[in-house]
Amino acid sequence: MANQPILCASFNQDNSCFAIGTRGGFKIFDCNTGRLLYERAAGAFIIVEMLFSSSLLAIVGAGEQPSLSPRRLCLFNTVTGVALEELNFLTSILAVRMNKKRLIVILQEKTFIYDINSLKILDTIDTVPNPKGLCAFSPSLDGSFLALPASTTKGSLLVYNVSDLRLHCEIDAHRSPLAVLSLSSGGTHIATASEQGTMVRVHLVSDATKSYSFRRGSYPSNIFSLSFAPAEERPDILLATSSSGSVHVFSLGSPPNQRSSGLLGSIKVPHTVSDALDPAQHCILHRAVPAGVRSTTLIRKIEKFDETATPEHVVLRMEKRHNYVRKAAELASQFYINPATNQPNVTGLILAGSADFKTELSQSNMFDRRLKGKILKVVDVSNGGEDGFNQAIKLSAEKLGNVKFMQEIHIIGKYFEEISRDSGKYVLKNHSSGETMVKILSKEQDPETNAELEMLAIEYRKFGCSLEFVTNKSHEGCQFCRGFGGIGAILRYKLDVRDFDEEEVHEDSE
Ligand SMILES: *[C@@H]1O[C@H](CO)[C@@H](O)[C@H](O)[C@H]1NC(C)=O
Ligand SMILES: *[C@@H]1O[C@H](CO)[C@@H](O)[C@H](O)[C@H]1NC(C)=O
Ligand SMILES: *[C@@H]1O[C@H](CO)[C@@H](O)[C@H](O)[C@H]1NC(C)=O
Ligand SMILES: *[C@@H]1O[C@H](CO)[C@@H](O)[C@H](O)[C@H]1NC(C)=O
Repeated sequence: MANQPILCASFNQDNSCFAIGTRGGFKIFDCNTGRLLYERAAGAFIIVEMLFSSSLLAIVGAGEQPSLSPRRLCLFNTVTGVALEELNFLTSILAVRMNKKRLIVILQEKTFIYDINSLKILDTIDTVPNPKGLCAFSPSLDGSFLALPASTTKGSLLVYNVSDLRLHCEIDAHRSPLAVLSLSSGGTHIATASEQGTMVRVHLVSDATKSYSFRRGSYPSNIFSLSFAPAEERPDILLATSSSGSVHVFSLGSPPNQRSSGLLGSIKVPHTVSDALDPAQHCILHRAVPAGVRSTTLIRKIEKFDETATPEHVVLRMEKRHNYVRKAAELASQFYINPATNQPNVTGLILAGSADFKTELSQSNMFDRRLKGKILKVVDVSNGGEDGFNQAIKLSAEKLGNVKFMQEIHIIGKYFEEISRDSGKYVLKNHSSGETMVKILSKEQDPETNAELEMLAIEYRKFGCSLEFVTNKSHEGCQFCRGFGGIGAILRYKLDVRDFDEEEVHEDSE
């Protein structure tokens, strides 16, 4: 199921994992590492929802196999590999949401709220036609809300408290019908966008008041996803992805439009542009994904930052990171893809770095797919520059075992080891005569035209030696050439150099 088209993708409630459904089955990945955690090849699925990191999955088939009807919800245990329960419906299931108490099933004109343990229906809500299964759900048990569209002609929504199963409020958010709605994890805020896609609005759920209005852009666009950064109390960052391929980051730093009125129920949205926040609170990561690709973005964790660091700094950092990864990806294509053949001209790549950039790069869709296939290893190095480069080579030694470069380093390493044991001289043994001779070749001699070298290259077999050529391209090789003139030998046995007359040695070297 490696290259199966993805039919659905969703994050779990605490953003630690994501699940995808494909034509061939479903898979679960770890958000931290991108590692595949679970995989089952069992047919085509259009809904795969996790319950936090538990073994429970809610899955719905795409209808491609008779046993995988889009009208049947299966609660599946990933540990036992067994379906715990199946719920059948009259029409196709369009969305499923869960928390530790509730299971919510969205159909075109009905929404069911179940107790997740007993699977007893607690409530059935008749909705306006909702063919896309639009909904928002906050999984927190302290503020467990469900939001559903309230109209097919304008952008209003109904918010239900799924703990006491009461209608909490109605919000008129946009003039056009809703395209996306998203609740913050604690259920305090709800973000919405209409089919127009130019404005993103945030309302406080507690009293249904609008607290932010952002202008995403002047031209209509399909907003694919809205997501709040996780936060204990109030979220301070909202992300939006759209068909333009950009990721918009909105800061909820200081709510300028927050009203103190305790007004409950429906409110009217002012339709002026002036209520959009100043640009400092809106940053855009351009070309984050290819335009038109349906995408979802979320912030998994916000690092604690000191008081001077504002959400704008966070956004700026994200942007810098993003640009850095893009630059690295572009350079990799430029350096390692031969434009004439359109193919990589390297047999392998090692990605090294000190932070998680390398992992990000290896997973980024900006990084050329042809090069991704060439990645041999991703290593963690503590230094930058040449030191980091050499460290990366050492750490990848086992992957590079067959590469001549590594063999060279190994040979020179052995030589250096001998030197450090004080046994180094250029000594050759003449097998037929049993005579030992010592050659010292001076640094100044150019090895290319060196007669001694030529002699060695031709005669070495007669001495029972093996001959290896090395380059000065490695750090070790360079040291060998500079410090030892580029010719050395490893002896079979220790030789007392005092046996050799100084003059004779000199004569030989001339
Ligand atoms: C939702 O219902 C629960 C259970 O009755 C209640 O404790 C909670 O206060 C309600 N939330 C709101 C915002 O009304
Ligand atoms: C690979 O191709 C690129 C682009 O032509 C070139 O710059 C680079 O030197 C080549 N690398 C190798 C190892 O041949
Ligand atoms: C090795 O010894 C034999 C016999 O003395 C001699 O003929 C030959 O030239 C020697 N080889 C070298 C490379 O010195
Ligand atoms: C390697 O040797 C070549 C030829 O002698 C020289 O031009 C080059 O500078 C050397 N490289 C290093 C890193 O020493």
